[in-house]
Amino acid sequence: MARNIAEIHARVRREFDRLKAISDPDTLARESIAFADGTAALAPVCQLHVADDDLLDQMGRWRQNNMQYFATRFPITVEGTRMWVRDYVLATPDRMLFLVIERPNRPIGYMGFARGFHKAGAMEQVNNLRGEKSSISRPMFRAHVAIGRWAERMFRPRGFFAHVLGDNERGIEFHLGLGMNRGRTIPLRKKQNGDFIALVPCDPNDTAPPDNTFVRMTKFSFSNPATYAS
Ligand SMILES: CC(C)(COP(=O)(O)OP(=O)(O)OC[C@H]1O[C@@H](n2cnc3c(N)ncnc32)[C@H](O)[C@@H]1OP(=O)(O)O)[C@@H](O)C(=O)NCCC(=O)NCCS
Repeated sequence: MARNIAEIHARVRREFDRLKAISDPDTLARESIAFADGTAALAPVCQLHVADDDLLDQMGRWRQNNMQYFATRFPITVEGTRMWVRDYVLATPDRMLFLVIERPNRPIGYMGFARGFHKAGAMEQVNNLRGEKSSISRPMFRAHVAIGRWAERMFRPRGFFAHVLGDNERGIEFHLGLGMNRGRTIPLRKKQNGDFIALVPCDPNDTAPPDNTFVRMTKFSFSNPATYAS
């Protein structure tokens, strides 16, 4: 049975805090969430990564190459990526990022959770990005299944959701393949502040044609393989 919502939030805070505080590679390897066949694992982004310039550079390049699929767009630098990881991901208690690591030690993408303190006890999946080719078949699909099952065991949330830009057909297909349901559409307006562009939900009195949309994708549980599209 689902936990009560205060208990879900408390467990999210405790577990995310614990994983983010990891400061040595052995603990990181032990705490990573492995694919069932051991070909890859999800490594929690933690204190160790803040000083890893090569990784920050690689993460920045992935984001640069896929800028149009995200609702925020900005110039990428190693220092900017470091600030994002340190001051936003690690410092936000209900947000968590995981690197998808092809074994033995090759980062190929990342994915994460946000709004772990959601008022209805659901969890949002965010920062879903494939950066590198891989010898593993469908690694991001398998990463979502592994992380979804882990989150269910750890937190027993009352479901999962993701917001995908309406013009990102491949992103929507990916979530449908995970057995997620297509929900409501949220109109977005483009706001620009210097180099920083953000697509944000339209004000209720803004009835002009939107600049883009979010499609809300939802799923109750990742534990039943019968719910996945083939
Ligand atoms: C969404 C995303 C993470 C899914 O990852 P993915 O690699 O496509 O998914 P999988 O791991 O299941 O792999 C599917 C395979 O089918 C291929 N594939 C999937 N859709 C495809 C398409 N429309 N055309 C061609 N090939 C496709 C992938 O390249 C991959 O092949 P590979 O393993 O030989 O490289 C990835 O497409 C991505 O990073 N997109 C840009 C960022 C983005 O849109 N994020 C989502 C925001 S919500």
